[in-house]
Amino acid sequence: MQISRKSPLPLAGEGNYKPNPSMTQDELKTQVAQAALRYIAHRTIVGVGTGSTVNKFIAALGSIQHQIRGTVSSSNASTERLQALGIPVFAADAVESIDVYIDGADEIDSHGYMIKGGGAALTREKIVAAQSKRFVCIADASKKVDVLGAFPLPVEVIPMAAARITRQFAALGGQATLRMQDGAPLRTDNGQHILDVRGLHITDPLAFETTVSQWPGVVTVGVFAYQKAHVCLLGTQQGVQVLEF
Ligand code: 5RP
Repeated sequence: MQISRKSPLPLAGEGNYKPNPSMTQDELKTQVAQAALRYIAHRTIVGVGTGSTVNKFIAALGSIQHQIRGTVSSSNASTERLQALGIPVFAADAVESIDVYIDGADEIDSHGYMIKGGGAALTREKIVAAQSKRFVCIADASKKVDVLGAFPLPVEVIPMAAARITRQFAALGGQATLRMQDGAPLRTDNGQHILDVRGLHITDPLAFETTVSQWPGVVTVGVFAYQKAHVCLLGTQQGVQVLEF
């Protein structure tokens, strides 16, 4: 049984929905985070992504935490938030499958293909998504695009391969820069580096993901085509739109 009927927020088009045309981006994120509760079934395991939209989802999950078995988390940051609320977090390899994965995106197109990794958690996000039966993306309307690539593409790399991978992207017309944090290269939860690649126009996300994933030293490319979203809850001024792919 879905918990959905207990969700406090109606979706766009539902009888009791009242549009509020002056919502901030933050309020749109809150709205989609709460709408995601509709996709969680009783006594199941929920995959939890990473980022500011997911932080709002974690807060909403706190209100129904006794109705789920627990979660699998995609980052140390999300694990800390879940545990602070007393929500059980299982290791990914301790559970066979995950009912639903809830995560944000940096860009999503009309097929459910995404760019992810703005929060540097793309590798674990892809692992948890791959283990989940359904991926529900929660995003405000600014994330919806026709073609992926305006957002700098995050790529997690083994540090010794970063310079060569930078040259390989240059050959495709992309400019890769090493992501920094506090004056030093950012280290992911897996101890690796992130390249952010600008100038790409990704017209065939499946082919792009296939190609870049094979470059030696690439841990994870932030194109989620094989692990695409099945549903996107898109926060708009007209309400939460449900896109199914
Ligand atoms: C983290 C991610 C996030 O889902 C993505 O960056 C969107 O974040 P936000 O909800 O803060 O806009 O991929 O690695």
